[in-house]
Amino acid sequence: MSDLPALFRAFVVDKPADGAFGRGLRDMEVQDLPAGEITVRVAWSSVNFKDGLAAREDGRVARRYPLIPGIDLAGTVVASDDDAFPVGSQVLANGYDIGVARHGGYAELARIPSGYAVALPDGLTAREAMEIGTAGFTAAMSVVALEERGLRPGDGPVIVTGASGGVGSAAVAILASRGHEVWAATGKPGEHDRLRDLGASGFLAREEVTAPGRPLERERWAGAVDTVGEATLPYVLRTLRIGAAVAATGNASGAELATTVLPFILRGCALLGMDSANMAIGPRRALWRRLAADLLPRGLADGGAEVALDTLETALDAIHDGQARGRWVVRVSG
Ligand SMILES: NC(=O)c1ccc[n+]([C@@H]2O[C@H](COP(=O)([O-])OP(=O)(O)OC[C@H]3O[C@@H](n4cnc5c(N)ncnc54)[C@H](OP(=O)(O)O)[C@@H]3O)[C@@H](O)[C@H]2O)c1
Repeated sequence: MSDLPALFRAFVVDKPADGAFGRGLRDMEVQDLPAGEITVRVAWSSVNFKDGLAAREDGRVARRYPLIPGIDLAGTVVASDDDAFPVGSQVLANGYDIGVARHGGYAELARIPSGYAVALPDGLTAREAMEIGTAGFTAAMSVVALEERGLRPGDGPVIVTGASGGVGSAAVAILASRGHEVWAATGKPGEHDRLRDLGASGFLAREEVTAPGRPLERERWAGAVDTVGEATLPYVLRTLRIGAAVAATGNASGAELATTVLPFILRGCALLGMDSANMAIGPRRALWRRLAADLLPRGLADGGAEVALDTLETALDAIHDGQARGRWVVRVSG
């Protein structure tokens, strides 16, 4: 064990039993850290939609108060009870209860079970890993799921909804780099150039993918990654080609789903649910290694932004309000 500072800086959300909801920077004590074999000096974290929710009183994501949010973290091991992750080694972690029910990445120190830890893959710096973060991880998981179901380059266009956001941008980049024809559905026409640079070859306006329609419409998409949920998933389902699948990752617009069974029973379409938080650690480590190699979302950092712990609130509010463009990384102590 190395010496740890008695206090560390953290962005904390809190709602004391007898007080009002609040959030901001605080000094925390090392004994405030949860149980776990590995203590990490966090260098970088990132901003995900879920973090935006965790930082709001009405977000219904935080499962404890006080909470240090931040579902992603990367940094250096500073204390360890597991020889697989010695002091000085570089690790990352995402998912499980991190930043939701146990303190997460928006702090100079984090403590995690070694069963959550991923050795930083060769080829990625800690900052690059957090540019990818849970958003890129979920995009990669979605592309793998579609390909395992049979999607191949040349099959036809693949639609990504919420394309300007974190998961959407990463999905565009990964699909395009693997040779798929990618169409980006976005409510932000100003993002077309960036999405084209990531590999999108066609665009749909938000109105096209959120308008009501018939139970089945012209077969169009060979595959889909849907990050928006309520507003767009009905359109995606009724326009998938025979045998095609959609990887459903998100609910940025809401969680209801108004659809029919017809895409499933008349076109054999599949709705593939993506849950990055609960992926077992073995496949999680393997997917992170692939994110540094054949699933690397090239160009994702371009157009993204960097914030620090004391400027984090603006990004958390913006992502909640649908104003994300690409990825925000958080410089914690990097
Ligand atoms: N399943 C999992 O494991 C997992 C993992 C990560 C994230 N998620 C979920 O995936 C979703 C996206 O996450 P993210 O981090 O990429 O968020 P994000 O960066 O905020 O992106 C969401 C995008 O959705 C679009 N959008 C937002 N509100 C909309 C509305 N009312 N109608 C239509 N489009 C809307 C916007 O893109 P355009 O302006 O380009 O349309 C926005 O940028 C969230 O629901 C998040 O909770 C799930």
